Amino acid sequence: MNAPENFSLFNLADWSSQQLAAIEQALSCWVACPVEAPAPAGLGDAMRYAVLDGGKRLRPLLVLATCEAVGGNPDAALRSACAVELIHAYSLVHDDMPCMDNDVLRRGKPTVHVKFGEAQALLAGDALQALAFEFLTPDDADIDHAMQARLCRILAKAAGFQGMAGGQAIDLASVGMPLTSEQLHEMHRLKTGALLQASVMMGAHCGAVSAPVLEALRDYGAAVGLAFQVVDDILDVTADSATLGKTAGKDAAQDKPTFVSLMGLDASRQYAQQLLARSLASLDQVDAHGLRGTAALRALADMLVNRQH
Ligand code: IPE
Ligand code: IPE
Ligand code: MG
Ligand code: MG
Ligand code: MG
Repeated sequence: MNAPENFSLFNLADWSSQQLAAIEQALSCWVACPVEAPAPAGLGDAMRYAVLDGGKRLRPLLVLATCEAVGGNPDAALRSACAVELIHAYSLVHDDMPCMDNDVLRRGKPTVHVKFGEAQALLAGDALQALAFEFLTPDDADIDHAMQARLCRILAKAAGFQGMAGGQAIDLASVGMPLTSEQLHEMHRLKTGALLQASVMMGAHCGAVSAPVLEALRDYGAAVGLAFQVVDDILDVTADSATLGKTAGKDAAQDKPTFVSLMGLDASRQYAQQLLARSLASLDQVDAHGLRGTAALRALADMLVNRQH
């Protein structure tokens, strides 16, 4: 099958609306709502507020698209999709707290600490992180234990010091400091790229794939992961708060090193397009191995780089 043709014929809106319905249903059913064990003292409300009703769900969509491409286990993919979104939602709750970026608006609503207080926001983040790993280790689902362990390991690594948390530490330590291109790449690779790449790798590990396909998907994940944060940096400058659902202009106001501060707007936009091209070239490698099709992954990369919010 001709990959570019396949890509242009692919209807991302139709595909996404089906996937998003499944993701939203699973999240609203699984996040802190079991009647037999509700989260105590309002914690469930804060958790649900952080996760439901908002967000583009790009990471879950990447998991599901990759799983489809490799013909993997859909139950494992849905659990992985929700798990990675919980880690992401927790990272946003903590990122917005006064000790970090001190933001009051997220996903078009007051941030969790504004609505529920700082202590509850801290705990909601902690609880969401733990819940992510609970999702990945069900007793009663048809996911073998080796796969469960692999999925946990990929997510743990991407969330921790070798991933998101490590990148956030660099981000906080870099306020007011001009970073070199190499340092900025490393910060973005960790704070944002790791979780996006993990979304792709988790989708891949819901199936059984050969080493070359895994490598090509890893490259795709690295390219879209970096592109995503380059675009986040651009939108912070070019979009308004109403469109973003979060406060625009924060990076410059807080003197954060970004791709825009390093190379300017035009070069950042060009770089994002180069990364898109790199991600699509990686998918050519995947297609060369004759899997079930990478049209959704192609369309997601395009959407993620050319998004307006
Ligand atoms: C924002 O991520 C935070 C970053 C990692 C840059 P998203 O833009 O994916 O946020 P939501 O999930 O759509 O709110
Ligand atoms: C946050 O990066 C990355 C996370 C790990 C949450 P930013 O601080 O740029 O994200 P926004 O712009 O607040 O969404
Ligand atoms: Mg931040
Ligand atoms: Mg922030
Ligand atoms: Mg940002």
